[in-house]
Formats: sequence, structure tokens, C-alpha cells
Amino acid sequence: MRSRAWLDGVDEVAMAHRVALASAGVEVPRDADRPVIGIANSASELNPCNLPLRDLAGAVKRGVRAAGGVPVEFPTMSLGEDLMKPSAMLYRNLLSIEIEETVRAYPLDGLVLLANCDKTVPGAVMGAESADVPTVLVTGGARSPAVFRGRRIGTGTDLWRLWDERRLGALDDEAWSELETCLALGLGACNTMGTASTMAIVCEVLGLIVPGGSTIPSGDPRAVVAAERAGAVAVDAVRGDRRLPTIMGPAAFRNAIVALHAIGGSTNAIVHLAAMAGRIGVSFDLDEVARLGVDVPVLVDVEPSGAGLIQDFDAAGGVPALLCELGELIDGSPVGVTGEAVDDLRAAAPAPQGVLRARADPLRTGGAFGIVRGSLAPDGAVIKTSAATPSLLRHRGPAVVFRDYRDMRDRVDDPRLEVDADSVLVLAGCGPVGVPGMPEWGMIPIPAKLAASGVRDMVRVTDARMSGTSFGTVFLHVAPEAAVGGPLGLVRDGDPIEVDVEAGRLDIDVSEDEMDKRRRAWSAPASPHLRGWPALYRDHVLQAPQGCDLDFLVAPTPAHRRFVEPVVGRS
Ligand code: FES
Repeated sequence: MRSRAWLDGVDEVAMAHRVALASAGVEVPRDADRPVIGIANSASELNPCNLPLRDLAGAVKRGVRAAGGVPVEFPTMSLGEDLMKPSAMLYRNLLSIEIEETVRAYPLDGLVLLANCDKTVPGAVMGAESADVPTVLVTGGARSPAVFRGRRIGTGTDLWRLWDERRLGALDDEAWSELETCLALGLGACNTMGTASTMAIVCEVLGLIVPGGSTIPSGDPRAVVAAERAGAVAVDAVRGDRRLPTIMGPAAFRNAIVALHAIGGSTNAIVHLAAMAGRIGVSFDLDEVARLGVDVPVLVDVEPSGAGLIQDFDAAGGVPALLCELGELIDGSPVGVTGEAVDDLRAAAPAPQGVLRARADPLRTGGAFGIVRGSLAPDGAVIKTSAATPSLLRHRGPAVVFRDYRDMRDRVDDPRLEVDADSVLVLAGCGPVGVPGMPEWGMIPIPAKLAASGVRDMVRVTDARMSGTSFGTVFLHVAPEAAVGGPLGLVRDGDPIEVDVEAGRLDIDVSEDEMDKRRRAWSAPASPHLRGWPALYRDHVLQAPQGCDLDFLVAPTPAHRRFVEPVVGRS
């Protein structure tokens, strides 16, 4: 165990290390078989989604101690989707670096990651992958549903719908204020199939969470039991040397993609899975997302693809029941951090019930996502078909172009905007380099004058992301993005745009000569961020199909960039 390099010895250096732990109230492990387990806790008052983790850290410690390990809790950045600007996504890779470097610098043999809100989960996992120590993930669960005027409110999805009602004058000031009070109901992640729940579920499928743990609601007593077990599993994983690169193999990633389709998960998960695969050299291809989805029924009837909430999915049996129902679509052989294979988990799963549909009665067939390419997206774009309008998945219409987010906010509700229901709304300049950080600005509001006349969905095309709680016929993550010269930045008002999801196409019907002319006249927009982390991010971030990771963090890396143990001597 790597902690022994710090703790063994009779010289002044080893003594200083032991004294440092003892001074912090941490037991100093004298036996060589007692691993030191770092508990990376992202609980923060800046982030209500992650705050339930504050109460789970103690349970994890009990589990570590009971299994013979030594727990050491340390704080990490807390990536809160609501408050961080321009986007928590800007900081996902920074969190991963923080965790990797904490492991590198300290005597830690394994990790328990306490993470919940959208980007905290992939950021923490990516850091643990690069640190290459056995790791267990504990998520904090979804918050209780709010009730507004007798109606159960799912986080995000229902707020977007109510905002549309507000824009149309159907919700007065009193109702709007009442809604705000209703929504501030407590701690935990979004309770729809947002990115947080999606990533938790996907990570359970990957084998990083104790079985059944990803859907336990915030505050449920079972969360304490699962956290204790996670602590014990971390100790066992260190002794069994079960590291993430051995757990997260190609078959586990294929299972994760199949599950992602079946739950109607967040489009953001595609970006995060690409990054997580990239960290350990597993190939991840957008086309495989489409190919695997062809045979996958969407089975989880949870917003925004369906009607229920995460609590309902948990009550229906959660991930073990889903894996069971997916049958041969899931490879039963991958072994998770508990040492159990997928087949072991589904043997005990209940039959489908509630919001978990049977395969014979799916919410939809053919998966939850479409992948398109073409002259407007040479490197691909993503659409969540399970939350789109089927009749718009094949469409041709004139572009209405917004150059950036501010331009869109300024003009989308302007009565003079030349737009009709057939128009294709284009939002450029919002990709990983463009803002930077690729915010969730992709669900462009339906222009007010069209919404007032009953239009509820339109084709939208953007290099931004959108929240997992969002919906509509939105083509996201267009690559390459406008800010690096992608064709999305060359579109002009009135250009005919064609989408055809079944054919996998997203094209602009403008001659190649004209596009070349525009390309030659194009120059990169000035970035307002010139220093610090945003500058480093902008200079090294990869495009969405590569997961928006930084180029110097992905594998395979040159040998000198692999995880290198520090020299353990005087500091
Ligand atoms: Fe944190 Fe949704 S905003 S989980």
C-alpha cells in the first residue's frame, strides 16, 4: 500500500508524517494491511444538491473502520449547477485535477467519493481514474418533490414548463412567488432524470456504487446503510486491488450506454462518459451510442422523457431491476468495485413495476438519443429523441441565428423577430471554448409570439449543452463548435437547415463555394477570459465528442505524463 511510503520508518520524516495524522485526530495505522481511505467530500453550503453528503461522511467512516481501514476525510470543490457561472462544467476538469493531485500528494490507498450534483460526479470519478487507486462512489440522492397548487413538481423540468406559462402571462406574480417558496424544500439532487441522477445510475451500472445505492432518495435511512457499506467496500477493494481502469472496461461502458438509453438519461452523460473513457484509454465513439441504442427500449418513465420522478424509479427497484429487465442487452460479466459481477446483481432483482416498464411495454423503442453528422456538424451532434417531438425529427426550415447567448436573450422574445414555427433556431458561440465551459443554454426558449400562438416545440441547433431536465427537439453539442471555426458559426439567417435523425444527418443547404467564402472571412471571436483557470481551460479543452477533457489529461499519455508517485521525503 502506497501509504506505507509515508508511515513506515524510524527517521524524522516518517515520524513527522505520523504526527501529522495523529494531530488531526486520525488513527495512525501501524499494520501494513490497514489501508488509508480518503473520503473526498464535496458537501458545501454553496450547493444544496451536495449538502446531504455532510451527513453521510460519518457513515462511510464507520464502514471503513469496521473493515479495518483508516478513514481520512478531506474537502473538495463542490460543483453546484445552480449557482456556478458560467457553468459548473467549466470546473469539472479542475475538480478531477484536485482529486488526482490530492491522492498523489498524500498517503492515500483508496478513495470514497462523496458527490451528487451533475458535474461533481464525473469530475470526481475522472480524478480517481487518473489517480489509479481503488475507489467507491457515494451519491447523496434526490431531493423530495415539491407540491405547487396540488401538483407534484419535478426539479428543473416542471420549472421550465411553468416559466413558459409565466412568459405567456398564465402565472401571476403571486403564483410565481408561491412557486419559489415551494421549490426551496430541502437538500439533494434534482429528482427528475437530470444529469445528477443519470450519472449516479450510470456509475452504478459501471460498478462504482454499491448495488441499489444510486437511487436512494436524500434523507432515506437506507442511504446511511449504503454509505457504511461503501466504506467497507473501499477497504476490500484496496486489498483486492480493484482499481477503476480494471472495473471500467469496454463492456462496462457498453452497459452504461445501454442503460443511459433505457433510462432516457441526460445528454450530458454522453459528454461525461466520453471523458471518463478517455481518462483510461477506453475507446468511446458517438456512433456507438447510436448503434447500441437501436435495440434498446426506453423503460424508465421519469421526467423529462416520462412522467414520474427518481423516487418512483427507486421504489420500482432501481438499477438492479433495470439491469434484470434489459436481459441480454446487458453484458453480465463486468465486475464492479464490490467484486460482484452484473449477473450477481440482477439475480436478486424484482420484476418491473411502477415507472419501470416491462420490455414488452416500453416508453419508446430505438433508444433515447440520436447522433447526427453532416455539413453543419462534421464531428457530430446529439439529440435526446425521447424528449423531442417525433414529427420534428425530420425537418427543413430557414435558420434564425443567434450569435451568442446574450444575443438570444435580447432578441428571442422580440415581436419583430422574423421567425415562424418552421424556422430552425440556431445558437452558436456556446461550446467548450466559446464561453468557455459549454453552459446548458441549448434549450432556446420558443419565441414568445410563437408560444402565445400555441407552438410548443421547434427545431433548435446549438454547440451548447442542455440540462438533463430539459426537453424539446434540440440538436446539441455540435462539433466542431463555432468558436473554433465550426460551420455553425458560418450560418446566416434564412439558410436552409435540414435535420433527419433516422438518417443521422444535420446539414446546411448552402453551396460549398459560399461556405468556403464565409470560412475565409471568419475570424475567432475575442475571449473575455485571459487569465487563471478559464484561460488554461480554453487553451486545452477538447471538443464535446472527446468529452471536453483537457488534452494533457487524457490517456494514452506520454509516459512522463502518467501518474507518478512523489518522492516521499522532507517536504
Ligand atoms: Fe444539482 Fe440538479 S442542480 S443535481
